[in-house]
Amino acid sequence: MVEVRPVVCLVMVLSMDVLGAAAGVFKPPPAMYVLGDSTLDVGNNNYLPGANVPRANRRYYGVDFPGGVPTGRFSNGYNTADFIAKCIGFVSSPPPYLSLVAPASSGGLLVPTALTIGVSYASGGAGILDSTNAGGNIPLSQQVRLFESTKAAMESKVGPRAVSQLLSKSFFLIGVGSNDFFAFATALAKQNKTAATQSDLAAFYGSLISNYSSAITELYKLGARKFGIINVGTVGCVPIVRVLNATGGCADGLNQLAAGFDGFLNSLLAGLAPKLPGLAYSIADSFGFAARTDPLSLGFVSQDSACCGGGRLGAEADCLPGAKLCADRDRFLFWDRVHLPSALPCSAPRPTMMARRSSPLPSTLSSWLTRAKLADFSKPATLSILLTVISNYGYMLRWFFFVVFVSHI
Ligand SMILES: *[C@@H]1O[C@H](CO)[C@@H](O)[C@H](O)[C@H]1NC(C)=O
Ligand SMILES: *[C@@H]1O[C@H](CO)[C@@H](O)[C@H](O)[C@H]1NC(C)=O
Ligand SMILES: *[C@@H]1O[C@H](CO)[C@@H](O)[C@H](O)[C@H]1NC(C)=O
Repeated sequence: MVEVRPVVCLVMVLSMDVLGAAAGVFKPPPAMYVLGDSTLDVGNNNYLPGANVPRANRRYYGVDFPGGVPTGRFSNGYNTADFIAKCIGFVSSPPPYLSLVAPASSGGLLVPTALTIGVSYASGGAGILDSTNAGGNIPLSQQVRLFESTKAAMESKVGPRAVSQLLSKSFFLIGVGSNDFFAFATALAKQNKTAATQSDLAAFYGSLISNYSSAITELYKLGARKFGIINVGTVGCVPIVRVLNATGGCADGLNQLAAGFDGFLNSLLAGLAPKLPGLAYSIADSFGFAARTDPLSLGFVSQDSACCGGGRLGAEADCLPGAKLCADRDRFLFWDRVHLPSALPCSAPRPTMMARRSSPLPSTLSSWLTRAKLADFSKPATLSILLTVISNYGYMLRWFFFVVFVSHI
């Protein structure tokens, strides 16, 4: 939840190492599947019932999104999932699973989307533990189950062989864990404790790591091979936590808890790799990057306050309609009291290694994109022709399909 924006570039550099062939030419993955929390949610929570579900379905969320519409992203525009997707050759994050199975979509979109772009299961408020914000989100274990059922639906359409080939080359992005720490800290505070006992802490870390391990292992058994994992960032530095400190400083204890977990996460993956042949992973060190980087030196004017919110540090109120917006949304490190603002576009200056490795946009593509906007793809017949074409031409047409798809939801 707490990465500094440019960390996302770091994510990409690391991911390129995983995804790029040894030859050095970056080949985009055929699809991308996303699991995680509100840093990656692109609208799943809008489809969840219940009053205690966090939703970014109102002003001013999306104020900088094309058209200025709230999309369910906990951001003023695009989010980290979109950014990473863009950097590896997609137009934006894959769409939310629940939008693809919603009655309004007549259920027909899940398989074509899963086969050509991927699917996002990320859900705001979700944790590694089912108990974190229980009932208000899709927890990680459930997201894995939804992927499992997506895979079954894909197989029934194109067969297990094609699906396992596709999945083995696809990119699995996971970013989750901050909410578990917020929940843990809240539970301590409720018991009037300022620090956890060693045994509470050991039990907490143990369940986090064991459940994270199950999630990755299950995804692997379902065919996932390439993982990009965003570790838990400096959760003690988000405005909603800072505002509890009289000086507005970070909660050092909470950051230390997160850092401890990130250490275990490194060991977990290093331990899993030899046991799961073909597993390739990259950890984006969101914590390390944030801890090492001074946002003010990068041109941010605020590193502690929410752009959209209210009260001290903009953190005493949620980002609700009528909230006060900061003047320069690009220069506040935080959009609301928990989340970062819209990620920098992938075309922003970034490490040369990445620039070298990203594949150029095929020249015929832009003309396709223009035509896609003009064609009528609401007719099922057109869609199935298109899908046949996509299966023949793969990558380039995936873009084409995506634009069509996006214009229809
Ligand atoms: C851990 O994961 C398992 C299965 O993935 C799930 O049933 C269980 O509830 C999870 N435990 C917690 C504490 O979230
Ligand atoms: C915590 O402290 C508050 C106020 O000091 C008190 O009302 C409450 O009962 C305490 N809670 C516990 C679990 O001790
Ligand atoms: C409050 O912030 C200050 C820095 O401004 C820091 O030194 C202190 O440790 C913080 N308090 C807590 C409880 O984290």
